[in-house]
Amino acid sequence: MKKITQELLTWYEENKRDLPWRHTKNPYYIWISEIMLQQTQVETVKEYYQRFIKKLPTLEKLANISQDELLKLWEGLGYYSRVRNMQKTAQLLIKNQKKTLPNTKEALMKLPGIGDYTAGAILSIAFDQPSMAIDGNVYRILGRVYRIHEPINKKATYKKYEEKMTSLLPNTKSSAFTQSFMDLGSLICTPKNPKCEKCPLSKECEAKKHQEQEQYPVKEKKISKKIEERSVFLLIYKNKIAIQKREEKGLLAALYEFPNTLKKPTIIDIENDLIERNIPFKNVTQIGEAKHIFSHKIWFMKGFSIELLNPIEKFLWVTKEELKSTYPLPNAFDYFYDFYINH
Ligand code: ADE
Repeated sequence: MKKITQELLTWYEENKRDLPWRHTKNPYYIWISEIMLQQTQVETVKEYYQRFIKKLPTLEKLANISQDELLKLWEGLGYYSRVRNMQKTAQLLIKNQKKTLPNTKEALMKLPGIGDYTAGAILSIAFDQPSMAIDGNVYRILGRVYRIHEPINKKATYKKYEEKMTSLLPNTKSSAFTQSFMDLGSLICTPKNPKCEKCPLSKECEAKKHQEQEQYPVKEKKISKKIEERSVFLLIYKNKIAIQKREEKGLLAALYEFPNTLKKPTIIDIENDLIERNIPFKNVTQIGEAKHIFSHKIWFMKGFSIELLNPIEKFLWVTKEELKSTYPLPNAFDYFYDFYINH
């Protein structure tokens, strides 16, 4: 057995919380507690759990209770789909002449409302099978002990934690092993101000060694994308269109673009502006809208086609063929490029 596993089990034996669902091995009761604990605090769950198992002591009773009575039992816990799924599961099992929950991961995960985590928790806690239940506590504890750099909100990272858990999983005492993470995570290895001086793993903890406990587990910040509304102009003179080169630095650096602005003019505004600047034109039309998502930004673009009677000097005037063959135009302008090429 790994040293870390041994330390967790010893610590749990001496420090485990006395919780109502820890006085039973009945898979039906363990299942109820795990479903309740998915989105609700331990302190709140205690009372609901006691009331629930008193009223519905067997799977059969749960299968047969009226929906109104069932929802009343759950009232205040929220996420009511949890209990609806529980009744579906109970009815399914009873229909198949089962008295309790199955004891394999495969069979458990076929039941409504039971995913990887809940199946792992039931298998280990109720059936004492070596099975892992990776929750926020596990991410925090292992993220810190092994100083895992991969962000936990990336799908691929789950595998890394699974590997670490596999290497720690004992052949016996599976229930204690699973629940040791829950208690260590709640009592010692807390998100803020962890009590490392009381932690059985403090000697092994890589994050502690670096004084970086609170930086783990790593979470990738969701960047909120800035929204920019742009007006894009297709300035057309005879068989040519106006483009310009973007700046050498920044977004889409050094590529070409159709003239555009963050202003939001109407057709009348554009016509007035052309008149004021003494630029003769034939007509201004609106040509649709497009959206482009960058890594940090979203452009919402409104297009205008403007037929000029003279070219404006500051732009580069190119034919369709030159635009296709010579000037790199970013995908952000695809909609307007296609519009121009096809008209
Ligand atoms: N959270 C989820 N399952 C738990 C359990 N069995 N004990 C304590 N906290 C939990």
